[in-house]
Amino acid sequence: MANAALAIDSYRTLAEDEVQERILAAREALGDRAVILGHHYQRDEVFRHADFSGDSLKLSRQAAASGAEYIVFCGVHFMAEVADILSRPDQTAILPDMAAGCSMADMATLRKVEQAWRELGEVIDPDQAVTPVTYINSSADLKAFCGRHGGIVCTSSNAANVLEWAWSRREKVLFFPDQHLGRNTALLKMGMTEDDIVVWDFTKPMGGLAPEQIRRARLILWQGFCSVHMMFRPEHIGAFREKHPEGRVISHPECTYEVCSRSDYVGSTEYIIRTIAEAEPGTRWLVGTELNLVNRLHARHKAEGKQVHFMSPTVCMCSTMFRIDPQHLCWTLENLVEGRPVNVIQVPEETAAQARLALERMLEVSP
Ligand code: 13P
Ligand code: SF4
Repeated sequence: MANAALAIDSYRTLAEDEVQERILAAREALGDRAVILGHHYQRDEVFRHADFSGDSLKLSRQAAASGAEYIVFCGVHFMAEVADILSRPDQTAILPDMAAGCSMADMATLRKVEQAWRELGEVIDPDQAVTPVTYINSSADLKAFCGRHGGIVCTSSNAANVLEWAWSRREKVLFFPDQHLGRNTALLKMGMTEDDIVVWDFTKPMGGLAPEQIRRARLILWQGFCSVHMMFRPEHIGAFREKHPEGRVISHPECTYEVCSRSDYVGSTEYIIRTIAEAEPGTRWLVGTELNLVNRLHARHKAEGKQVHFMSPTVCMCSTMFRIDPQHLCWTLENLVEGRPVNVIQVPEETAAQARLALERMLEVSP
């Protein structure tokens, strides 16, 4: 009988130096059998071990292209699911801490979305009139829902291309779970107006909408949001501009429209990194996205005289991204060295096949 996996308990109290050394030793032992993918919101002590970093789109592509036997995903649950769906069957996707979810992704469930689809069916024929679009921050069964209903997945870096595709097929879009990415893309990039948009309140029958509102809408936005990005407010931008009129403001599209419409630049984490890296030395930036990334940008660009400020006066981090700590990474890797994968993410094949369809449509239309 195979030996049991090493237990996490003894890792919890490991000192930082020791844990870092043991991660390096385990990586050395695994060689190219394991690849570590790290999202930009990961804390530095974990992020430094990533072979590849990126936003959700870049990391999906990386997972699909990787030849490694083990894909260790330092990110959140839906990202590891995408890695499992897009990788080969003989590869294994691993999430170092199973509690690393995404509270926004949890705001849309298959049961609620299927209920919404049925209720829309009382007013229109959704399979004729509505393309379902799910933000990649969603569970695999919602991606599968999109796959089987002619829909598609999007990320923060391809939402405009995806919406264009969606509207070219059917007259309306049901966009879940993040209302802000949907609204910002439609209003700031696609020439839509507020009159084209309604918000589906998933706690109310028929989304709290009248049949006439549904008939008129081009875009039906699920009432989900990211609590981290809700912390950024237009008044933070106002105060910054007053103090630093020459400063530039850059925000993630999960921020509200009030924040994004007052920003000079709006885009994914990878876009934010690239834009600040390419800016002239001496520029000053106010950044509306997660704190670990903004702190890293601040440290990276200080020497060039670039000033990078965090948009909110309160500390706001993604607490679920933060669940991935060096202790869990070490535990995961040492178990791999022992040949006992832990925290394996395996999407059931039928769900994976339908979700893959929606993800492949996305990859095809992505820039
Ligand atoms: P990006 O794809 O822009 O990295 O965003 C992922 C995310 O969860 C932002 O909150
Ligand atoms: Fe989810 Fe928000 Fe965290 Fe991104 S920052 S993973 S959307 S909770």
